[in-house]
Amino acid sequence: AHMRPVRTEESSIRREYTRAKGASAGFKVALLGACGGIGQPLALLLKLNPLVSTLHLYDVVNTPGVTADISHTDTTAVVRGFLGQAQLNAALEGADLVIIPAGVPRKPGMTRDDLFNINAGIVKTLIEGVAKSCPKAIVAIISNPVNSTVPIAAEVLKKAGVYDPKKLFGVTTLDVVRANTFVAEVIGVDPKEVNVPVYGGHAGITILPILSQVSPPFSFSKDEVEYLTNRIQNGGTEVVEAKAGAGSATLSMAYAAAKFAEAALRGMRGESDVVECAFVASEVTELPFFATKVRMGRGGIEEIFPLGPLNEYERQGLVKLKAELKDSIEKGINFVQKST
Ligand code: NAD
Ligand code: LMR
Repeated sequence: AHMRPVRTEESSIRREYTRAKGASAGFKVALLGACGGIGQPLALLLKLNPLVSTLHLYDVVNTPGVTADISHTDTTAVVRGFLGQAQLNAALEGADLVIIPAGVPRKPGMTRDDLFNINAGIVKTLIEGVAKSCPKAIVAIISNPVNSTVPIAAEVLKKAGVYDPKKLFGVTTLDVVRANTFVAEVIGVDPKEVNVPVYGGHAGITILPILSQVSPPFSFSKDEVEYLTNRIQNGGTEVVEAKAGAGSATLSMAYAAAKFAEAALRGMRGESDVVECAFVASEVTELPFFATKVRMGRGGIEEIFPLGPLNEYERQGLVKLKAELKDSIEKGINFVQKST
């Protein structure tokens, strides 16, 4: 009679899949804050991305469950879970791309800056891990307030002597995703056809949609410009209020982060035409960090595009946003410089 083989050592009956010779090897991506509202759907989307060969899921809670669950999807990427601070370095070892949605989200009535006290320390600790375990990785920060957490990350990396400004990104893709959606509704086309550049930062008036540079070109009325600008600037708050205490955007953010990750990985693979808006170290204005269009390549940022022509409404928006953005950037820098 047929006997099933005895399963002695599970590992002896499993072989890790190795791709055919010549095929692209894929990248190792570490997701920090992988079990949160953004982290879980983002982990799933990354697991579905053929450019990802290894996916490390790190959080301070729940990674065994989320990892077991996601590991059963029949896509190529290998998933491993890491739980708690003691496993942070192992989670980061060898990572090509680190994506960070760790930290607390807003509740109604809060600004993103109200999250600073908790999230600044979380981001600092995680970036210390990056500096130690994968200093050459490209780092994408989602944790709010992005206008301060990116400068925090830069300072931590500088302190460790491993800062490469071409490899640090604040993820503002959700602003672009929202802008594309709302603009597509106004002009009556498929959102896939629309591309709205969004400059500045990622909070309230620091989010500056450049409707005059929309693709395809469209001439908006004054009312349309005001409606669209306000809706894009307050898109996060719209979701926070609708969720009524249960958090902020998670699904649309996971989608946006997956889009950003795809762009970063395509750039890393050597594609030459990958352009996204992101909040990066920049000289396009007098501020040390600013979101504009950047071209992504093998080593991160290959080119930062100039602002391009702005209309009067956008020029005024730019003047106003710089004051707030400057304060948020300095607050982040000071947080690290004052700590030991
Ligand atoms: P969440 O509370 O659902 O999830 C956060 C996760 O981070 C949790 O699983 C938590 O355990 C984990 N975490 C906390 N401290 C950690 C640490 N020290 N190390 C590792 N993981 C840790 O929150 P969320 O809805 O996923 O939002 C996360 C962050 O993203 C918030 O700060 C939110 O404001 C921000 N956010 C940014 C954007 C953007 O456009 N950049 C959009 C949406 C949300
Ligand atoms: C967003 O834009 O949705 C995020 O920054 C979360 C928030 O607090 O609004």
